[in-house]
Amino acid sequence: MHYLGNLATLALRLASRLALFVPNDGAHSVGYYDPVGGGGSMLDNAGDGLGEPLNVIISGLSSPEVLTDTGIVNYARAIGFSEECFDIHLGAPQSANLGDGNGWVNQTIELRQDYGDAPVGTCLESLIGGDHFRVYRQNGTNADSGALFLAVSQEEPVTDGHDIIPNGYNIGRDSLVTWATGQTSYGGLSYTTTAQNITGLLAPGSNGVNHGIAQDGVVVLLTVNIDG
Ligand SMILES: *[C@@H]1O[C@H](CO)[C@@H](O)[C@H](O)[C@H]1NC(C)=O
Ligand SMILES: *[C@@H]1O[C@H](CO)[C@@H](O)[C@H](O)[C@H]1NC(C)=O
Ligand SMILES: *[C@@H]1O[C@H](CO)[C@@H](O)[C@H](O)[C@H]1NC(C)=O
Repeated sequence: MHYLGNLATLALRLASRLALFVPNDGAHSVGYYDPVGGGGSMLDNAGDGLGEPLNVIISGLSSPEVLTDTGIVNYARAIGFSEECFDIHLGAPQSANLGDGNGWVNQTIELRQDYGDAPVGTCLESLIGGDHFRVYRQNGTNADSGALFLAVSQEEPVTDGHDIIPNGYNIGRDSLVTWATGQTSYGGLSYTTTAQNITGLLAPGSNGVNHGIAQDGVVVLLTVNIDG
């Protein structure tokens, strides 16, 4: 449990991270744009020629605050995720092209299941596996929805190389959606989240998918409203 000794350092890091507040650009008028229509892809780039499916979208019609860097972290905490264990990234960042004119852009942030204890729980996730997601923001001038595209998957324990479990894309997505839907709260904010399945955006199957794990092609659109 040596990591407990690093808690003070972590608190300082979190405080400085929160100071890097990215102001949102106000309300958006569309939930998302199809990345493929703009020359992008519904698979991110894992660096090996394959990619993870972007299987959840947080709608651009959500409360604007949710779509900011600090806002998505608070929302993630409300639904059982937190920032990575002591900011230690396991593996290289991945990138996505959301067809918005920005081309391939590295993930904004990666969040892990926190097992009920943000942030120490994410260390547990790193050890024993669990749900996690990468966040990409669709904000280029060609398709500025403000939507957040998430690559969600359920991971193996670190002892197994931190790969994705069998059926881990569908399972990871469905768990996140279950935890997110309805009423949640964190840090003084209450959220109401509705979910809608979208088909026809992401091709089902394993073609081009990292680890060759097939997924069902369902993308869940979450619309998140801050209550009150
Ligand atoms: C994306 O991440 C990789 C790996 O850390 C890094 O080498 C590269 O410079 C990053 N790209 C941008 C545009 O930040
Ligand atoms: C678009 O999103 C990226 C990634 O989060 C961010 O770095 C950039 O500042 C944003 N651009 C604008 C114009 O808000
Ligand atoms: C959405 O798709 C998932 C995965 O196929 C399925 O389990 C769920 O029942 C669907 N929900 C609705 C409302 O159709």
